[in-house]
Amino acid sequence: MLKVGLLGAGRIAGVHATAITSHAESALAAVSDYFPENAEKLAAQYGSVARATDEIIADPEIDAVLIATSTDTHSDLIEAATAAGKAVLCEKPVDLSLERALACQVAVAKTGRSVMIGFNRRFDPSFAALKSALDAVEIGKPELLSITSFDPAPPPIEYVKVSGGLFRDMMIHDFDMANFLMGDAPVAVTAVGTSIIDSEIGAAGDVDTAAVTLRYEDGRIAVIKNSRRAAYGYDQRVELLGSEGMLQAQNMLENTVVKSTTDGVTGAKPTYFFLERYMPAYAAEWSAFVEAVKNGTSFPVDLDDGVAALAMAEAATRSAKTGAPVLIADVLT
Ligand SMILES: NC(=O)c1ccc[n+]([C@@H]2O[C@H](COP(=O)([O-])OP(=O)(O)OC[C@H]3O[C@@H](n4cnc5c(N)ncnc54)[C@H](O)[C@@H]3O)[C@@H](O)[C@H]2O)c1
Repeated sequence: MLKVGLLGAGRIAGVHATAITSHAESALAAVSDYFPENAEKLAAQYGSVARATDEIIADPEIDAVLIATSTDTHSDLIEAATAAGKAVLCEKPVDLSLERALACQVAVAKTGRSVMIGFNRRFDPSFAALKSALDAVEIGKPELLSITSFDPAPPPIEYVKVSGGLFRDMMIHDFDMANFLMGDAPVAVTAVGTSIIDSEIGAAGDVDTAAVTLRYEDGRIAVIKNSRRAAYGYDQRVELLGSEGMLQAQNMLENTVVKSTTDGVTGAKPTYFFLERYMPAYAAEWSAFVEAVKNGTSFPVDLDDGVAALAMAEAATRSAKTGAPVLIADVLT
């Protein structure tokens, strides 16, 4: 039984608490939060106990920690937990700062340990099936990838101000999805962003609508579209054109009823947001973590993947300011 300490007791921690306690081979040993009352509330809900973050990391009885705290604490906690010999699953992104994430990568390498990063969409049954078909060479060589990722509504402005910006907070998932499907990182990133949904987002120095193109060394291309608002719900689709065909992953719908009348043909909206759409993905992500720790095998998505996606987010943030392409090699030097 893997004894797990959950660091952070906010929005996503609740999802992880469910995954940890639903798994037959893991137990929620303790929960911490910067605000102890948050930890107490979540711990009580899942029959666990609230403890201080440092205490959890120092406790030799705890095998693994799941870091679900605010992004600016991730690198520090990854370093502390790996140094203490814990198995670590950390939420995305690795950090708000690429420089800090690169330093974290070096520190973790020195411990000889590996860290799993919470890019849960790799475990979504539709995207995972698309990847399996791609790996089985069912559409030949992938040439043009298109990712659509629209939220139903923008987050509160207080969240936007500390999020690190759309490219680091939101599109980071799509950068990782591009790397997952293309099997490689791009050489150049070109971004255009605007704040046409909420002027407060623009005033905070961020964008709410963005399009990015990724150029690969061998000439392949990927296009990512993000919006903080889609009136009809959470829109999460992938289309991959290959030399011998196309793969598409469509939205999950609230139900499968299709109404056909003289007025036309209509169906249900996509499921509302990430909690509804990705619940099976969070459970599969946790199972993959437990499996890897139990068997001593490598994590399916690790710190290097987290840093690669953050480098793309950094490049996109810079490119959106000038309109010019930014080389990944330039953000890494
Ligand atoms: N993979 C996903 O789909 C997904 C979805 C949402 C959020 N996230 C990521 O998860 C992280 C948390 O996001 P959230 O929406 O749950 O935020 P949140 O603000 O709801 O929760 C974060 C919690 O961490 C606590 N905290 C901050 N510093 C701490 C510390 N040093 N020790 C212990 N607790 C500390 C805060 O008090 C807060 O309760 C972010 O990095 C975010 O990017 C990932």
